[in-house]
Amino acid sequence: MERITSVPGSTYFYYPRLVCVVGVLDQAKETCNFAPVAWATPLSSAPPLYGVCLSPRTYTHKLVLQAGEFTINFMAHDDAGIVAAMGKLSGRLTDKVKELGLALDPPDALRTPTLARAYASAECLLVARHQLGDQTLFAGEVHSIRHRPEAFDEAGVLRPERVAPLLYLGAGRYLSADPASVVSPAGTG
Ligand SMILES: Cc1cc2nc3c(=O)[nH]c(=O)nc-3n(C[C@H](O)[C@H](O)[C@H](O)COP(=O)(O)O)c2cc1C
Repeated sequence: MERITSVPGSTYFYYPRLVCVVGVLDQAKETCNFAPVAWATPLSSAPPLYGVCLSPRTYTHKLVLQAGEFTINFMAHDDAGIVAAMGKLSGRLTDKVKELGLALDPPDALRTPTLARAYASAECLLVARHQLGDQTLFAGEVHSIRHRPEAFDEAGVLRPERVAPLLYLGAGRYLSADPASVVSPAGTG
């Protein structure tokens, strides 16, 4: 089979990725800022840790350092337009909550609101940060999780036939998961 050699950065070879919207308090402006990240990952189950990679150029990076906590919000495919807009604007210049008419849910455990439209969200306390190349990996301990009741089955697995998760393909393109493609090969799961 033919294979082409390419240099890092020339393809989105590690996409698609689940979009995670990071929410953070902007105490000075008495609002909350939201920025989508594709570079986000669970890091540990005990304690529950979730990591988000932010460029120091983002306003969210500065706010996470100030606030010491953040929320993670997972959106449906229908919200691609709003997520793309959050990624174009910067909280430095624009109050995204007002500009995009974002409805917020109050926090359960910490101080940062979550996005009401998210099918799942969690409040994270900043416990570590590492500078890795041109990004900072912020590790947050998950203190509270909220989700729409129809989104997950009794095993805690997302029901793609009820909620179409928003995946980022790269270069401004989004997609979702086809529920008809779900398979459970024998002897697994
Ligand atoms: C789908 C998507 C994924 C993104 N992933 C990241 C990411 O992983 N890390 C990052 O620093 N910026 C990422 N960005 C860019 C930020 O969201 C963007 O710079 C945003 O405007 C930052 O807002 P802020 O200045 O209010 O923090 C992404 C944008 C989009 C639309």
